[in-house]
Amino acid sequence: MNHIIIGAHWGDEGKGKIIDILAEKSDIIVRYQGGNNAGHTVKIENQTYVLHLIPSGILHPKKICVIGNGVVLDPEAFFEEVKMLHGKGIKVDGRLFVSDAAHLLLPYHRLLDQLKEENSHQDHKIGTTKRGIGPCYADKMARLGIRVADLRNVNSLKVRLGVVLEEKNQALRKLYNHPGLSFDEIYSGLLKIRKRLLQFSISTSNYLYEASKKKKNLLFEGAQGTMLDVDHGTYPFVTSSNASVGGAITGSGVSPTLIDRVIGVVKAYTTRVGEGPFPTQFPPKLMEQIQKQGNEYGSTTGRPRRCGWFDGVITKHAVRINGLNEMVVMKLDVLSGLPEVKIATGYRLGGKILKDYPTSTDEFSRCKPIYESMPGWKEDISSATRWKDLPVNARRYLQRLERLLETPIKIVSVGSKRSQTIFL
Ligand code: GDP
Ligand code: IMO
Ligand code: MG
Repeated sequence: MNHIIIGAHWGDEGKGKIIDILAEKSDIIVRYQGGNNAGHTVKIENQTYVLHLIPSGILHPKKICVIGNGVVLDPEAFFEEVKMLHGKGIKVDGRLFVSDAAHLLLPYHRLLDQLKEENSHQDHKIGTTKRGIGPCYADKMARLGIRVADLRNVNSLKVRLGVVLEEKNQALRKLYNHPGLSFDEIYSGLLKIRKRLLQFSISTSNYLYEASKKKKNLLFEGAQGTMLDVDHGTYPFVTSSNASVGGAITGSGVSPTLIDRVIGVVKAYTTRVGEGPFPTQFPPKLMEQIQKQGNEYGSTTGRPRRCGWFDGVITKHAVRINGLNEMVVMKLDVLSGLPEVKIATGYRLGGKILKDYPTSTDEFSRCKPIYESMPGWKEDISSATRWKDLPVNARRYLQRLERLLETPIKIVSVGSKRSQTIFL
């Protein structure tokens, strides 16, 4: 069986934990979009791992991991992560492969991302992770990218980098009054990592095709979330890749006809890090409480995540866009102790009532949620392992989400550890 895991909100839904759990029954785990803007946390006993580029399945010693062509790969970040894993006794050689068609994220991408963020007017800042993701994908589309396969021939690499860097340096000088970056430094940096990176590189599309012919189980690990998707999210406050289901196809070179199920991951509430509208955002006091209870600080940048009530409108949008077959609800434990829990089932915009996500970000920013309120539960549920261990009001909350989303909930998570998981 081949499964795609998708974040159905604005990222950080808890995909890492679920990938780690589902990896048990998979053979190959595939990252297909985004880059090291992602931060996927997995807790195994007392160890915490945060994966940015390497699939979360790597923590299972026998599983194969693939970084697909749709990922933008910062070689420095990649080797740092390999080093971190080695330091924790996790070997990657022979079971981690990188697509030779993946684009390299280079120092000028990072610098341009940082300068653009710092020089933008507050209203136009995206609140990016400053990892260079946007500029790297922009180069890919502008046909100015450098791919892993380009490392094979140093002569053509040198020429290509020269042409590209000249353009980047002009932009740096003209737009930001920056002196520009040194060709020699970037080129020698690439020569240093070239051979090692090429050892990881293969045609991952061919590899996955052959594996699926042999009935290997593929698990596709989405990064970010549907509302950060460049086409279907809250544009321009999005990331620069397709975080929704299409990204899994183009970003891996695996045909949609080989996919069996698409699984959406949500939190029992909603969070967002970075700029952009967020209709169900909590008032300050409740925000602080949930940030604390849910430890809502970014895994990549450490920034506090904004928190709010479960937004049924954007989640239904994600169900439709991705064709979600089932849902996973994370962090239900964080809502324990609240006298009431709310779900947004629509928005009010001026005199109108909206049931669907309005494409215009201007309109979205003016939407006022229409809430359904339900009684909360007091009990600590972090050791629940079965449906019947949950308080009746927690069960009612989940049942209401299921009815609203018209999609079955198959897994509920009540803590960050593997054992704190309820399978339904
Ligand atoms: P991802 O980017 O979707 O993989 O999510 P992150 O790893 O960025 O953020 C999810 C955070 O929630 C991590 O710190 C997890 O350890 C933690 N987490 C995951 N599931 C649960 C849960 O059910 N309850 C609690 N309290 N924490 C959880
Ligand atoms: P995971 O995979 C949450 C957000 C940034 C910013 C916007 C654009 O851990 O769920 P970028 O650096 O991508 O150009 O930033 O996207 N963002 C994420 N938010 N989780 C992520 O990844 C994110 N990756 C990017 O905060 O608002
Ligand atoms: Mg994350």
